[in-house]
Amino acid sequence: MKRKNKWLIVANWKMNPSSKKLAKNILTKVKKNTSRLSRVETVVCPPFVYMLEVKTTTRFILGSQDMFWEPEGSFTGYVSNLQLKDMGVKYSIIGHSERRALGESDIEINKKIKVSISSNITPIVCVGEKERNGNGDHFAFIREQIESAFAGVSKSVIKDVVIAYEPVWAIGKNAKRSASTGEIFEMTIFIKKVLSDIYQTKSVPSTRVLYGGSTNDKNIEDILKNGGVDGVLVGGASLDPLIFGNMLKIAEKIK
Ligand code: PGA
Repeated sequence: MKRKNKWLIVANWKMNPSSKKLAKNILTKVKKNTSRLSRVETVVCPPFVYMLEVKTTTRFILGSQDMFWEPEGSFTGYVSNLQLKDMGVKYSIIGHSERRALGESDIEINKKIKVSISSNITPIVCVGEKERNGNGDHFAFIREQIESAFAGVSKSVIKDVVIAYEPVWAIGKNAKRSASTGEIFEMTIFIKKVLSDIYQTKSVPSTRVLYGGSTNDKNIEDILKNGGVDGVLVGGASLDPLIFGNMLKIAEKIK
Protein backbone atom coordinates (compact mmCIF):
# COMPACT_ATOMS: atom_id res chain seq x y z
CA MET A 1 0.00 0.00 0.00
CA LYS A 2 1.32 3.43 -0.91
CA ARG A 3 1.81 5.75 2.06
CA LYS A 4 -0.50 8.74 2.20
CA ASN A 5 1.82 11.01 4.18
CA LYS A 6 5.44 11.88 3.78
CA TRP A 7 7.68 10.62 6.55
CA LEU A 8 7.81 13.23 9.29
CA ILE A 9 11.31 13.58 10.70
CA VAL A 10 11.67 16.05 13.52
CA ALA A 11 15.00 17.23 14.90
CA ASN A 12 14.82 18.21 18.57
CA TRP A 13 18.03 20.07 19.28
CA LYS A 14 17.10 20.62 22.94
CA MET A 15 19.49 23.21 24.52
CA ASN A 16 22.18 22.68 21.87
CA PRO A 17 24.53 23.73 20.32
CA SER A 18 26.34 26.41 22.33
CA SER A 19 26.74 29.02 19.58
CA LYS A 20 25.11 30.39 16.44
CA LYS A 21 28.18 29.43 14.47
CA LEU A 22 27.80 25.77 15.45
CA ALA A 23 24.08 25.86 14.70
CA LYS A 24 24.77 27.20 11.22
CA ASN A 25 27.44 24.60 10.73
CA ILE A 26 25.04 21.73 11.48
CA LEU A 27 22.40 23.14 9.15
CA THR A 28 24.76 23.80 6.28
CA LYS A 29 26.23 20.33 6.50
CA VAL A 30 22.87 18.54 6.66
CA LYS A 31 21.70 20.57 3.70
CA LYS A 32 24.85 19.67 1.77
CA ASN A 33 24.44 15.97 2.60
CA THR A 34 20.87 15.78 1.39
CA SER A 35 19.34 16.81 -1.89
CA ARG A 36 15.72 17.89 -2.18
CA LEU A 37 13.60 15.24 -0.49
CA SER A 38 10.21 14.36 -1.88
CA ARG A 39 9.12 11.69 0.60
CA VAL A 40 10.31 13.34 3.80
CA GLU A 41 9.03 16.36 5.69
CA THR A 42 11.97 17.59 7.76
CA VAL A 43 11.26 19.77 10.77
CA VAL A 44 14.02 21.36 12.83
CA CYS A 45 13.20 22.53 16.36
CA PRO A 46 16.17 24.62 17.49
CA PRO A 47 16.43 26.72 20.66
CA PHE A 48 14.47 29.97 20.08
CA VAL A 49 17.70 31.96 19.61
CA TYR A 50 18.64 30.01 16.46
CA MET A 51 15.27 30.06 14.71
CA LEU A 52 16.40 32.65 12.21
CA GLU A 53 19.35 30.44 11.23
CA VAL A 54 16.99 27.55 10.44
CA LYS A 55 14.84 29.85 8.35
CA THR A 56 17.65 31.44 6.40
CA THR A 57 20.07 28.53 6.01
CA THR A 58 17.80 25.67 5.00
CA ARG A 59 14.61 24.65 3.29
CA PHE A 60 13.63 22.73 6.44
CA ILE A 61 10.39 23.43 8.23
CA LEU A 62 10.72 25.43 11.43
CA GLY A 63 9.46 23.97 14.69
CA SER A 64 9.64 25.05 18.32
CA GLN A 65 10.44 22.99 21.40
CA ASP A 66 7.68 24.58 23.46
CA MET A 67 5.22 27.47 23.51
CA PHE A 68 3.43 29.40 26.24
CA TRP A 69 -0.37 29.28 26.50
CA GLU A 70 -1.05 33.04 26.67
CA PRO A 71 -0.85 35.01 23.40
CA GLU A 72 0.93 38.06 24.89
CA GLY A 73 1.40 39.97 28.10
CA SER A 74 3.43 40.13 31.29
CA PHE A 75 5.05 36.69 31.26
CA THR A 76 8.77 37.19 31.62
CA GLY A 77 10.87 34.73 29.70
CA TYR A 78 8.11 32.98 27.75
CA VAL A 79 7.41 32.83 24.02
CA SER A 80 3.85 32.77 22.70
CA ASN A 81 1.97 31.09 19.88
CA LEU A 82 1.48 34.43 18.11
CA GLN A 83 5.19 35.19 18.21
CA LEU A 84 6.06 31.72 16.94
CA LYS A 85 3.44 31.94 14.21
CA ASP A 86 4.90 35.27 13.12
CA MET A 87 8.35 33.67 13.02
CA GLY A 88 7.06 31.01 10.62
CA VAL A 89 6.85 28.11 13.04
CA LYS A 90 4.72 25.25 11.71
CA TYR A 91 5.12 22.59 14.42
CA SER A 92 5.62 22.76 18.18
CA ILE A 93 6.82 20.00 20.47
CA ILE A 94 4.61 20.02 23.55
CA GLY A 95 4.93 18.05 26.78
CA HIS A 96 8.42 16.67 26.20
CA SER A 97 9.44 14.38 29.05
CA GLU A 98 12.40 16.62 29.90
CA ARG A 99 9.96 19.49 30.52
CA ARG A 100 7.56 17.23 32.41
CA ALA A 101 10.48 16.15 34.61
CA LEU A 102 11.06 19.82 35.48
CA GLY A 103 7.47 20.20 36.61
CA GLU A 104 5.35 20.85 33.52
CA SER A 105 1.87 19.59 34.39
CA ASP A 106 -0.84 17.85 32.38
CA ILE A 107 -3.00 20.95 32.74
CA GLU A 108 -0.29 23.19 31.29
CA ILE A 109 0.31 20.74 28.45
CA ASN A 110 -3.41 20.70 27.66
CA LYS A 111 -3.50 24.53 27.51
CA LYS A 112 -0.46 24.61 25.24
CA ILE A 113 -1.97 22.06 22.85
CA LYS A 114 -5.15 24.12 22.59
CA VAL A 115 -3.35 27.39 21.94
CA SER A 116 -1.09 25.72 19.39
CA ILE A 117 -4.09 24.34 17.48
CA SER A 118 -5.81 27.74 17.66
CA SER A 119 -2.94 29.31 15.76
CA ASN A 120 -2.60 26.51 13.19
CA ILE A 121 0.73 25.35 14.58
CA THR A 122 0.70 21.56 14.65
CA PRO A 123 1.40 20.29 18.16
CA ILE A 124 3.72 17.30 18.47
CA VAL A 125 2.44 15.95 21.76
CA CYS A 126 4.96 13.79 23.61
CA VAL A 127 3.85 10.86 25.72
CA GLY A 128 5.91 8.08 27.24
CA GLU A 129 6.29 5.97 30.35
CA LYS A 130 9.30 6.32 32.64
CA GLU A 131 9.79 2.58 32.96
CA ARG A 132 8.16 -0.75 32.25
CA ASN A 133 7.46 -3.08 35.16
CA GLY A 134 6.46 -6.14 33.18
CA ASN A 135 2.77 -5.88 34.20
CA GLY A 136 1.73 -3.74 31.26
CA ASP A 137 1.00 -0.73 33.51
CA HIS A 138 2.57 1.54 30.92
CA PHE A 139 -0.54 1.21 28.76
CA ALA A 140 -2.77 2.73 31.45
CA PHE A 141 -0.16 5.43 31.99
CA ILE A 142 -0.09 6.38 28.30
CA ARG A 143 -3.90 6.33 28.16
CA GLU A 144 -4.04 8.82 31.04
CA GLN A 145 -1.44 11.08 29.46
CA ILE A 146 -3.40 11.17 26.19
CA GLU A 147 -6.75 11.67 27.90
CA SER A 148 -5.53 14.65 29.90
CA ALA A 149 -3.56 16.12 26.98
CA PHE A 150 -6.62 16.17 24.73
CA ALA A 151 -9.31 17.06 27.28
CA GLY A 152 -11.63 19.53 25.58
CA VAL A 153 -9.85 19.30 22.21
CA SER A 154 -12.47 18.92 19.51
CA LYS A 155 -12.80 15.82 17.39
CA SER A 156 -12.55 17.80 14.16
CA VAL A 157 -8.88 18.71 14.75
CA ILE A 158 -7.56 15.45 16.11
CA LYS A 159 -6.49 14.23 12.67
CA ASP A 160 -4.20 17.26 12.43
CA VAL A 161 -2.17 16.74 15.61
CA VAL A 162 0.91 14.58 15.94
CA ILE A 163 1.63 12.29 18.90
CA ALA A 164 5.20 11.28 19.65
CA TYR A 165 5.68 8.12 21.66
CA GLU A 166 8.89 8.66 23.58
CA PRO A 167 9.49 6.13 26.35
CA VAL A 168 11.67 7.95 28.86
CA TRP A 169 13.85 4.88 29.35
CA ALA A 170 14.84 5.00 25.68
CA ILE A 171 15.74 8.71 25.53
CA GLY A 172 19.12 10.37 25.61
CA LYS A 173 22.64 9.49 26.62
CA ASN A 174 21.68 7.20 29.49
CA ALA A 175 19.27 5.10 27.47
CA LYS A 176 20.17 1.43 27.34
CA ARG A 177 18.50 0.90 23.98
CA SER A 178 15.86 2.23 21.65
CA ALA A 179 12.44 0.58 21.96
CA SER A 180 12.09 -2.48 19.73
CA THR A 181 9.96 -2.21 16.62
CA GLY A 182 7.55 -4.69 18.25
CA GLU A 183 7.16 -2.37 21.24
CA ILE A 184 6.79 0.66 18.98
CA PHE A 185 4.22 -1.04 16.74
CA GLU A 186 2.14 -2.19 19.70
CA MET A 187 2.14 1.30 21.23
CA THR A 188 1.28 3.00 17.94
CA ILE A 189 -1.82 0.81 17.62
CA PHE A 190 -2.65 1.45 21.27
CA ILE A 191 -2.37 5.24 20.89
CA LYS A 192 -4.79 5.16 17.94
CA LYS A 193 -7.14 2.94 19.94
CA VAL A 194 -7.12 5.44 22.83
CA LEU A 195 -7.97 8.26 20.41
CA SER A 196 -10.81 6.17 18.93
CA ASP A 197 -12.11 5.60 22.46
CA ILE A 198 -11.89 9.26 23.47
CA TYR A 199 -13.56 10.50 20.30
CA GLN A 200 -15.94 7.53 20.03
CA THR A 201 -15.15 6.76 16.48
CA LYS A 202 -14.85 3.33 14.92
CA SER A 203 -12.52 4.39 12.15
CA VAL A 204 -8.83 4.57 12.97
CA PRO A 205 -7.92 8.23 13.40
CA SER A 206 -5.43 9.49 10.81
CA THR A 207 -3.49 11.27 13.58
CA ARG A 208 0.21 10.86 12.86
CA VAL A 209 2.28 8.97 15.42
CA LEU A 210 6.05 9.33 15.75
CA TYR A 211 8.56 7.36 17.75
CA GLY A 212 11.41 9.03 19.63
CA GLY A 213 14.21 7.62 21.77
CA SER A 214 17.75 6.78 20.62
CA THR A 215 16.93 6.86 16.93
CA ASN A 216 19.85 7.05 14.53
CA ASP A 217 20.96 6.01 11.05
CA LYS A 218 21.34 2.39 12.19
CA ASN A 219 17.79 1.83 13.41
CA ILE A 220 15.62 4.28 11.45
CA GLU A 221 14.99 1.92 8.54
CA ASP A 222 13.67 -0.83 10.81
CA ILE A 223 11.57 1.63 12.84
CA LEU A 224 9.95 3.22 9.79
CA LYS A 225 9.37 -0.11 8.05
CA ASN A 226 8.15 -2.10 11.04
CA GLY A 227 7.11 0.31 13.80
CA GLY A 228 3.81 1.40 12.22
CA VAL A 229 4.81 5.03 12.73
CA ASP A 230 4.70 8.08 10.45
CA GLY A 231 8.18 9.22 11.38
CA VAL A 232 10.63 9.86 14.18
CA LEU A 233 11.53 12.54 16.72
CA VAL A 234 15.30 12.69 16.83
CA GLY A 235 17.31 14.13 19.74
CA GLY A 236 21.06 13.52 19.98
CA ALA A 237 21.50 12.21 16.43
CA SER A 238 19.99 15.38 14.95
CA LEU A 239 23.05 17.35 16.10
CA ASP A 240 25.37 15.21 14.00
CA PRO A 241 24.96 16.41 10.41
CA LEU A 242 26.31 13.21 8.92
CA ILE A 243 24.06 10.89 10.93
CA PHE A 244 21.00 13.12 10.57
CA GLY A 245 21.60 13.52 6.84
CA ASN A 246 21.85 9.73 6.56
CA MET A 247 18.57 9.35 8.41
CA LEU A 248 16.83 11.64 5.94
CA LYS A 249 18.32 9.81 2.98
CA ILE A 250 17.33 6.41 4.36
CA ALA A 251 13.74 7.59 4.96
CA GLU A 252 13.56 9.03 1.44
CA LYS A 253 14.21 5.56 0.00
CA ILE A 254 11.41 3.86 1.97
CA LYS A 255 8.11 3.90 0.11
P1 PGA B 1 17.29 11.02 21.74
O1 PGA B 1 16.16 12.06 22.24
O2 PGA B 1 17.06 10.78 20.29
O3 PGA B 1 18.58 11.70 22.06
O4 PGA B 1 17.10 9.77 22.57
C1 PGA B 1 14.85 12.04 21.74
C2 PGA B 1 14.03 13.11 22.39
O5 PGA B 1 14.20 13.37 23.58
O6 PGA B 1 13.18 13.76 21.72
